[in-house]
Amino acid sequence: MGNRILLWGILLLAALAFAVGVWKRMWPDVEMGRRLAENNCGVCHDLNDAHRNRKGPFLWAVVDRPAGAIADFTYSAAFLASVKAKPFVWDEANLERFITDPSSFIPMTRMAQRDAGHPLAFEGIDSAANRRDVIAYLKTLK
Ligand code: HEC
Repeated sequence: MGNRILLWGILLLAALAFAVGVWKRMWPDVEMGRRLAENNCGVCHDLNDAHRNRKGPFLWAVVDRPAGAIADFTYSAAFLASVKAKPFVWDEANLERFITDPSSFIPMTRMAQRDAGHPLAFEGIDSAANRRDVIAYLKTLK
């Protein structure tokens, strides 16, 4: 009898832990996004308000910024051609597409090329939850 109660107790706790896990993944996790951005983007992009360009343009206040707007950054010809042909702003939907697969959103963008100035070209983030967390974090950079 005691064993059965113990078993139910354990099952209940496991179910609870699972529910909390699912619950937490339903909302963006900014802290997780910060860590992911520092690891995935920080090698090439400055994430502070120093407005300093590195391999890529600074990402401070990038959300809702027009694409290709950083005057003292030298974008690739492919990037400029794409943005000139079809100007857009970096809203959440466009960021989501770009960090899923940069070169399918902007063909031949330097961000996904081996000559990006960093040995690792950026080929996108596979996990939708991770992309959502990164974008939630980018929104705080203002
Ligand atoms: C390997 C280096 C590298 C990594 C890693 C990288 N980027 Fe980039 N990024 C670049 C380069 C280079 C450009 C300029 C693209 C061009 O000129 O074709 C760029 C451009 C951008 C732009 C366009 C900004 C503008 O001013 O229009 C955004 C947005 C961006 N990156 C976001 C990200 C995010 C978010 C991450 C991480 C998830 C990331 N990048 C990871 C190198 C990188």
